[in-house]
Amino acid sequence: MTTETPRKTTSPATFDQLERATAGLRPPFAVVDLGALRANSERMVARAGGKPIRLASKSLRCRPLIEDVLRTPGYQGILAFTLPEALWLARTTDDSLGDILVAYPCADAATLRELAADERAAARIAVMADSVEHLDLITAAAETAGANGPQVRVCLDLDASLRLLGGRIHLGMRRSPLHDPAAAGALARAVVARPRLRLVGVMSYEGQIAGLADNQPGSPLMRAGVRLMQRLSTQDLRIRRAAAVRAVQDVAPLEFVNGGGTGSLEATSSEAAVTELGAGSGLYAPRLFDHYRAFTPYPAAYFALTVTRRPAPRHVTVLGGGWIASGPAGPDRLPTPVFPPGLRLVGTEGAGEVQTPLVGDAADGLRLGDRVWFRHAKAGELCERVDRLHLVEGDRVVGEAPTYRGEGHAFL
Ligand SMILES: Cc1ncc(COP(=O)(O)O)c(C=O)c1O
Repeated sequence: MTTETPRKTTSPATFDQLERATAGLRPPFAVVDLGALRANSERMVARAGGKPIRLASKSLRCRPLIEDVLRTPGYQGILAFTLPEALWLARTTDDSLGDILVAYPCADAATLRELAADERAAARIAVMADSVEHLDLITAAAETAGANGPQVRVCLDLDASLRLLGGRIHLGMRRSPLHDPAAAGALARAVVARPRLRLVGVMSYEGQIAGLADNQPGSPLMRAGVRLMQRLSTQDLRIRRAAAVRAVQDVAPLEFVNGGGTGSLEATSSEAAVTELGAGSGLYAPRLFDHYRAFTPYPAAYFALTVTRRPAPRHVTVLGGGWIASGPAGPDRLPTPVFPPGLRLVGTEGAGEVQTPLVGDAADGLRLGDRVWFRHAKAGELCERVDRLHLVEGDRVVGEAPTYRGEGHAFL
């Protein structure tokens, strides 16, 4: 990352400042407001209550920013999203930034073999497992490295969903089959029975709490339902996670127990069984993180598009715009025009592949060639659309940083 100035503001930029800073840039481009990002980072560390945050790389997808954040006190280690990404990070970032936990299982035998053949990477990376099938794949790869090959570090993924009525109601994500403490203990025993594997941690991510806003505008009934579900799920996890960790620790000592995400830092850190948090989205603070009661981050990531036509009074059309977030498809996954204020997407068209109409009073004040600023619904996915992030402090661009895509990587 190239930056010109040691000045380190923690104030978010205004849109006037963003406009001045980026006057020389040609849309489409993406911006990260470093003042907002630093303020968000400080608040996340405070909310983590003294436990380290393992940085979710998928939520930044920009290596220089990942490195910068990891040099901040309060952060330790990377929560990577694919094994090829983890291998790349292990080879290109300093060991002092901490170990790398791949949060999702890898079923690619060749990449697992690559890990087992690279002693340095194997010392820093842990892969995820939730079943004997995973252990079989990892063991087969480890064995190809020969008798003197490294042990492969393994973490168990404990399901954090809430199951009610004997499992007939499932609230949360469909991830790991490992739900009961006894099942976690049994899989831990299966790991330690394999000399080529080393059990190092337990992870469990409560997406139905950490990634679901509890203060959404709209239906009060829906809000009450979300809060009730989150209360029940928090109680369930506090007991079940502690029991599962005990069951695993009876089998092997653990280096870490990872849990939580941006939306649950304070609740998850208060669980004694959890040693570290996993989070990242709160740094860019995309729109899906706008409506939580526990915190209000500053928007720190934007993209700008150009007005290219004027289809009707009170309408303008910008070039591009379909930078849509993953998850259950719906309006909340669309990008949002945020400046100038008073523009919105057109319901029948949404955000288009090559152009996006916008409607609202502000449209009549815009000319061809003017810009509209947007926010993405999610954090790191923005980086799959651009090669670089322009880094802004106040009214100046102070540097730029390549995204994963800009470094030639499209991991997912
Ligand atoms: C395993 C895991 N941990 C933590 C998180 C939280 O990440 P973030 O705070 O970036 O949303 C996620 C998000 O999906 C996750 O999958």
